[in-house]
Amino acid sequence: MKQLQDKIRQEGKVIGTNILKVDSFLNHQVDPELMANIGKEFAKYFKDKRITKVFTIESSGIAPAMMTALNLNVPLVILKKQSSKILNGDVYQTKVESFTKGTTYELTLSKNYIEKEDNILIIDDFLAHGEAASGAIRLVTEAGATVSGIGIVIEKSFQIGREKLESQDMDVYSLARIAKLGAEGVIFIED
Ligand code: G4P
Repeated sequence: MKQLQDKIRQEGKVIGTNILKVDSFLNHQVDPELMANIGKEFAKYFKDKRITKVFTIESSGIAPAMMTALNLNVPLVILKKQSSKILNGDVYQTKVESFTKGTTYELTLSKNYIEKEDNILIIDDFLAHGEAASGAIRLVTEAGATVSGIGIVIEKSFQIGREKLESQDMDVYSLARIAKLGAEGVIFIED
């Protein structure tokens, strides 16, 4: 998506060879017009998949996921990151380890917001190691529903996330695919 690539080139800050900071339009301050166009783009790509709900993971996935849900005219469900297990049985939970941040959390979904008939579209801001998205897939699968697609705003294609998701037969659509980060800046797959 050209508007997103231009924004990344203009405002993204490369930290070492692994991290791209995009605090000015995605992770801290948010650019609503860009999010609106991201939502339209995801909705266009996934329009024939009979999506019934959009799922995302708090917190930075919420803005692009909200705009996607609006365009698909379906509800948005925000998966929560709990620090410990909830024992009352009203939720599905799975442990997720973040390699980038070195943290572990219980990804949590209320049983009230998923049904066996649901076709879920998972939207997230970054795809790195694919652990968060894999956790979301486990929750949907445990509920007996279907993951019908995964939409990613920024994919770090030099990390293993896409491979991990495709090995689970997932249709992964990323709006910006980064081949390399380094002293030369951001290199996209198409460059
Ligand atoms: P994974 O989900 O693909 O396995 O990624 P990983 O665990 O390695 O990343 C965990 C967190 O780090 C996620 O945020 C992810 O968005 C973020 N992250 C990974 N790589 C980058 C990067 O290059 N730049 C930025 N800005 N973030 C990155 P999170 O913990 O879910 O936080 P948030 O959604 O509350 O912001």
